[in-house]
Amino acid sequence: MSKPRQLKFGAMLHGVGGHIAGWRHPQAQADASVSVDFYKSQAQKAEAGKFDLVFVADGLYINEKSIPHFLNRFEPLTILSALAAVTSRIGLVGTVSTSYSEPFTVARQFASLDQISDGRAGWNVVTSPLEGSALNFSKTIAEHPDHAKRYRIATEYIDVVKGLWDSWEDGAFVRDKATGVFFDPSKMHRLDHKGEFFSVQGPLNIARSKQGQPVIFQAGSSEAGKNLAAHTADAVFTGHGRLSEAQHFYQDVKGRAKALGRNPDELVIMPGISPILGGTEEEAERKYQELASLVTMEQALAYLGRYYDHHDFSQYSLDEPFPDLGDLGKNSFRSTTDRIKRMAQENNLTLRQVALLEATPRTAFLGTPEQVADRVQAWFEQQGADGFIINSMIPNGLDDFIEHVVPILQRRGLYRTEYEADTLRGNLGLSFPVNRYAKEREVNVQ
Ligand SMILES: Cc1cc2nc3c(=O)[nH]c(=O)nc-3n(C[C@H](O)[C@H](O)[C@H](O)COP(=O)(O)O)c2cc1C
Repeated sequence: MSKPRQLKFGAMLHGVGGHIAGWRHPQAQADASVSVDFYKSQAQKAEAGKFDLVFVADGLYINEKSIPHFLNRFEPLTILSALAAVTSRIGLVGTVSTSYSEPFTVARQFASLDQISDGRAGWNVVTSPLEGSALNFSKTIAEHPDHAKRYRIATEYIDVVKGLWDSWEDGAFVRDKATGVFFDPSKMHRLDHKGEFFSVQGPLNIARSKQGQPVIFQAGSSEAGKNLAAHTADAVFTGHGRLSEAQHFYQDVKGRAKALGRNPDELVIMPGISPILGGTEEEAERKYQELASLVTMEQALAYLGRYYDHHDFSQYSLDEPFPDLGDLGKNSFRSTTDRIKRMAQENNLTLRQVALLEATPRTAFLGTPEQVADRVQAWFEQQGADGFIINSMIPNGLDDFIEHVVPILQRRGLYRTEYEADTLRGNLGLSFPVNRYAKEREVNVQ
């Protein structure tokens, strides 16, 4: 009998949080975004809750209007390497952009994290939506690649990285002191990649870990983003307000993977959710209102503007219908900017309403632990998600979820009480990627 499907959980590690005013909360640790102790304690709590992974998002451009967490935070691979040393089972997923980096360097960094953590690394592939990023990488704004080009680069980039990760077949390093043989040359491979954007010879100067290759996450929900996920990702980080939207996305991406000949179970869909828990529904609601009351209108407009390449929304009247923005946003966070435009139009919303809804969204996962567990179960069982990234907006939100919701899901048999595997890939239920050259060798022998 096959094992019943089990929920997967990730914990978003983001210091003072993704909420624009969360740092002002009375219980917030205001310097959490650069506190190693804070990150350490969050990762260890998530591991005690048997979470599959911790997740670190990132960006490459800030200005005065960026949210406080973005202004002063750790580079993902650096903090994840520190966390590898103080955890032993939980996966470590970091965000790196394919638009402003080189495949050889990034392949090497993730392969190193994978070895340091003994098979627990994951790479969240993003394409850098903000055009200002160009200014930090010796380019002009005009040279920031457009949305379609960013995804073409990403597709080739991931192929190169995966190719480099297979540079060494497993067992290539014999290290035989008696014979003086350090490695088996027949198990070392050059990639010799020459493509539209990259030219990379290889081999990579680090071998595979026990999970074969780091797990590839993809974040980006446009047509191009979904195609990239279906083609190449092991897992998808996404975000939806309603179950119906989540179901549509889930079917869509899994369908695309299947059409490409992949097993859709090997593509784990994990929406980010921001649960708010209370002893009663009213208490949870009060917690939400307390957070929402910290946001000023000016901050909400700045938050909204960032999705549209830091567009200045203060020029419009707040109580008029949401302005017609034309194509604005299509080169930035496209799937998000399209969703916001659609939502505003369908619901006849004013700019004030849209800005507040985006800056301080009212989560569907608000209520008592039983109510939140019911919602998690519904999304999981009704094919809206394979698991969730807990992206808490309020201090102690992750702790509350682990302490109060996880035990309910465990009692219901939906979530593990012990890790099944000692690699991220194993815990996510993904199969081991046999080295491509070893596979070829096997085929040739048969
Ligand atoms: C759920 C989600 C999370 C994302 N996380 C990041 C991130 O951490 N860093 C980043 O630079 N871009 C991030 N992106 C942006 C994408 O990589 C991409 O550049 C942008 O969204 C446009 O792609 P899309 O239209 O396919 O969503 C994220 C996008 C989504 C939808």
